[in-house]
Amino acid sequence: MQVFILGGTGTIGTAVVAELVSRNHQVLALSRSEKSDELLISAGATPFRGNLTEPDSWADAAVSSDAIIQAAATFGEDMGDVDAKAMKALTQAAATRSDPTRLIYTGGCWLYGETGDEIATEDRPFNPLPAFSWMVAHAQMLLDAPQLRTAVVHPAMVYDMRDGGVFYRFLSAAKNGQRTEIWGSKATRWPLIESSDLARVYCDLVERSDLVGFFNAVSEEGVTVGRIASVISEAYGSPTEPMIRTVDEAVKENGAWAKGPTLDQQMSARKLQSAIDWQPQITDFAEQTTHWISDIQT
Ligand SMILES: NC(=O)c1ccc[n+]([C@@H]2O[C@H](COP(=O)([O-])OP(=O)(O)OC[C@H]3O[C@@H](n4cnc5c(N)ncnc54)[C@H](OP(=O)(O)O)[C@@H]3O)[C@@H](O)[C@H]2O)c1
Repeated sequence: MQVFILGGTGTIGTAVVAELVSRNHQVLALSRSEKSDELLISAGATPFRGNLTEPDSWADAAVSSDAIIQAAATFGEDMGDVDAKAMKALTQAAATRSDPTRLIYTGGCWLYGETGDEIATEDRPFNPLPAFSWMVAHAQMLLDAPQLRTAVVHPAMVYDMRDGGVFYRFLSAAKNGQRTEIWGSKATRWPLIESSDLARVYCDLVERSDLVGFFNAVSEEGVTVGRIASVISEAYGSPTEPMIRTVDEAVKENGAWAKGPTLDQQMSARKLQSAIDWQPQITDFAEQTTHWISDIQT
């Protein structure tokens, strides 16, 4: 199949491109720079030069492919507006095709808000942070568009063995012998998934266009950030007692998105597991991360 991906150089997209290429799919990837061109070519994809903010230049090429994956985000103040313009352009371009266009859209665990001791399934009502509420509306608009066949993936917090993903802050502090910084509380739980396990979800959904709707993607339902930070600190032999910052401090220094990592959440992938027979291959972040750090050090 030919797959057009937005965000093919990001945490999620890099793993998805690798998995698509390994399955012999032809990958066209939106790229806004020479650096991204090089990354994509070395991964086996073909860059398509354009910007997420100017969808008229790439929407026709995207809908001419067998499937589209949206895993791009600017993470700026304009994040929702840019996504709205891009998804509207795709929807309009898809209306010119005789068959519905397959689209995999990326949502996220933060759309459920705090779940506490409950485990979020796809039936749970959304309670997004204000900074991400647009994502719920866009997902619904794409699911409702008759010219699209949309599956929306809600990834858990994604870690990877390239730059760490959501573990990045902990890894870089511990590597430099510093205390890790936790926003909010050590008891906050994160649902986790490793990027290559998540990539198999996207690729399975690309190949199964009969599956539409929301799909949670998660390997470990809820791990405390205190445990994550201490596993990483211990692996580097750096101070294990984290520094606790308040949620307000984190938001003031990093922007509204910083409330996301302070949400106490648990999430289940039971729907996905029964729909596509998907099972994570990496189910213990601690073992995986400790091996990875030890490999880097030797
Ligand atoms: N990572 C997670 O743990 C996680 C969990 C749940 C949901 N999500 C959601 O998944 C999506 C992707 O997240 P991510 O962590 O993979 O993001 P990321 O690592 O920051 O990657 C963002 C991607 O978007 C591209 N991009 C940004 N602005 C662009 C523009 N103006 N034109 C073209 N491309 C542009 C980037 O390209 P360049 O390489 O050119 O910058 C990159 O490929 C987001 O919507 C996020 O909310 C992420």
